[in-house]
Amino acid sequence: MSILINRPELEKKINEVAEVAGYLWQKGWAERNGGNITVNLTHEIDNEIRHLPPISGAISIGRTFPHLKGCYFYCKGANFRMRDLARRPMENGSIIRILDDCSSYVIVADQLVKPTSELASHLSMHNYLIGKGSSYKAALHTHPIDLIAMTHHPAFLKKDVLTHLLWSMIPETRAFCPRGLGIVPYALPGSFELADATIRELDEYDVVMWEKHGICAVGENVMEVFDMIDTLSKSAQIYLTAKSMGFEPEGMTLAQMEEMKKAFNLPK
Ligand code: 13P
Ligand code: ZN
Repeated sequence: MSILINRPELEKKINEVAEVAGYLWQKGWAERNGGNITVNLTHEIDNEIRHLPPISGAISIGRTFPHLKGCYFYCKGANFRMRDLARRPMENGSIIRILDDCSSYVIVADQLVKPTSELASHLSMHNYLIGKGSSYKAALHTHPIDLIAMTHHPAFLKKDVLTHLLWSMIPETRAFCPRGLGIVPYALPGSFELADATIRELDEYDVVMWEKHGICAVGENVMEVFDMIDTLSKSAQIYLTAKSMGFEPEGMTLAQMEEMKKAFNLPK
């Protein structure tokens, strides 16, 4: 029996992950098992769940995350497909609990699905967020074609070049992605090197590009995170469409961008 039965709040959170997983597939950003989602569910977990026997033994993470003691996360399964998760989230992902040693976890429900191979990055991000008192609960990594293509051009990898270019394509991008876009140089997928470089960028950005691999973002909930990436991708599409029509897009002027910043009271 699923842990979601008779737990409408928990079910709502998982259904939101499933809805976003469907969008990632529809967008063409989630080939095969591409991408992963984790959500901090600790506040949705009742006493009964806390006392359920785990369905796995303790699994070492290889790192200590001091702020994650006793936290619960929904995680997409390693090698599982977003398009399957969209229909059956509890068969293509699982809920884990971080043990008191802060460096291992158990799987709690519903099935013995091993969490994503990017767990190091996801848990590093959640640990970082809790540590700085953030209310953000969701982390999402996906493979948007347009934005990844842009990371194959060294000029776009310089600090804030992509941020300003994408902001200038359409006013909404600056409004809905106000901290811009950080850049993480290429690192092996699933590695602690990638995780460490990602959280270094989170000091300044909510969204980071993983060079020649994908995008990774954090936010209040998974829908909000999806919307940020979708907006950035829209800007990338506008840039690419203009280029394919044979011209360099003009972009909003600095004065227009400054006006946006004041009108929306934006941080940067
Ligand atoms: P997982 O299937 O392990 O989540 O990996 C997908 C991915 O995109 C790795 O970067
Ligand atoms: Zn990936």
